[in-house]
Amino acid sequence: MAASSYTKNILCIGAGYVGGPTMAMIAARCPQYKVTVVDINAERIAAWQSDKLPIFEPGLLNVVKEARGRNLFFTTEMEQNIHDADIIFVSVNTPTKTFGEGAGKTADLQHWEKTARQILKASESDKIIVEKSTLPVKTAQAMERILNSNDKGIVFDVLSNPEFLAEGTAMADLANPDRVLIGSRTNERGIKARQEVVDIYANWIPRERILTSDVWSSELSKLVANAFLAQRISSINAISALCEKTDADVAEVARAVGRDSRIGPKFLNASVGFGGSCFQKDILNLVYICESYGLTEVADYWENVVKINDYQRRRFVGTIRRVLFNTLVGKRIALFGAAFKADTSDTRESPALYVAEQLLEERAAVVLCDPQALANAKHDLARYAERIEFEPDPYRAAQGAHAIALLTEWSQFKVLDYARIFDSMEKPAFVFDGRNILDHQALYEIGFNVYPIGKPKLSHFA
Ligand code: UDX
Repeated sequence: MAASSYTKNILCIGAGYVGGPTMAMIAARCPQYKVTVVDINAERIAAWQSDKLPIFEPGLLNVVKEARGRNLFFTTEMEQNIHDADIIFVSVNTPTKTFGEGAGKTADLQHWEKTARQILKASESDKIIVEKSTLPVKTAQAMERILNSNDKGIVFDVLSNPEFLAEGTAMADLANPDRVLIGSRTNERGIKARQEVVDIYANWIPRERILTSDVWSSELSKLVANAFLAQRISSINAISALCEKTDADVAEVARAVGRDSRIGPKFLNASVGFGGSCFQKDILNLVYICESYGLTEVADYWENVVKINDYQRRRFVGTIRRVLFNTLVGKRIALFGAAFKADTSDTRESPALYVAEQLLEERAAVVLCDPQALANAKHDLARYAERIEFEPDPYRAAQGAHAIALLTEWSQFKVLDYARIFDSMEKPAFVFDGRNILDHQALYEIGFNVYPIGKPKLSHFA
């Protein structure tokens, strides 16, 4: 297809976990559009151009290969591509601010504002700008102000189109989402711009699943959706602590509670805590926004979701320490899992890394094992490089260990030969199952002392 025959020119700034997969899906489903993904990181762009993509996401490579070179392009060339684009998705990272006002809570908008100014500089025609990054409410307004401050007579329509995909299932989520949300100004111009973006998704998503709203509600919905999901996990994790005290089984409680159709069964798996780039960041962002409007009670309510998550991770490490006779010094502990959940190489806010750090602080000899996330974990834990071992083979990781702590629910870990592992470990041997995915009774019968989350322990000690 010649460049001129594309019906729309779509650009995405930011080739990360959201921008890359989303644009690959748009390009694959809409061969009539030219889709370009631009990033300042040349290494990352080179990886997108190769068969070794910079992120691990099941099914992604096939979708990329279907469109790459046909109507999907990855590049570091920013200016010309901004100039040529009709629609620009902005998907740069907005991590939690680490300095100044709002540090630890609000989003750091420096990349985002830099991007707005780059767009302004390189544009010579009207454009639709779509916020994909999660941003604090009212960011679109600020972006609109910066962009429309130009004296070139160009008008920018700023829309919000938050991404709800979850890592590990990104391609399925993108192919068949529960909903797509597009927020715009509600004047004639805004609605016309919104329709342009609706038309993109309508190529493969039924129209009734494409929701439209005003831009502020759209921005806020993203934060609230993540806050509600995280709240369910903190709720069941809080109950897991009570179950451990009372010999109730949190999985049974979740099953019974989740059968109420008003509550539903999903996101009720007790665990060592939630991780990932979104939940904590988005809740803290929500908390900050509430505080800035003087809504102290509302801010406190949501902040507790994060506090329970911290408590759950701390509690898990506390159990390991207590059960291993109150000293971890020099003890080899194999951590099964580094990613924040299965089927991803992402370690951002991973409870596994938190547990690793806490165990290292207790001077344990930590061995980290993960099928996909070791490279990221190595980078994250670089300051402990001398004291931590990274071992992709779980059998070697567990050899000579006093305990295994399972921290990521990779299916590989369920089917290991635990009798063989037991034989190679120090005795007494312990398993701490931070995801409740192993067959606890079978492990107990092999000889392990087993400590699940929110369930009675299975111990060979009286
Ligand atoms: C989340 C949202 O699901 C997604 O809609 C949003 O766009 C981005 O944030 P993601 O961070 O990829 O997606 O992961 P998710 O599957 O939601 O899991 C988040 C964390 O919660 C993981 O650490 C996971 O292991 C944990 N979790 C999830 C539990 O501990 N228990 C559960 O029942 C479910």
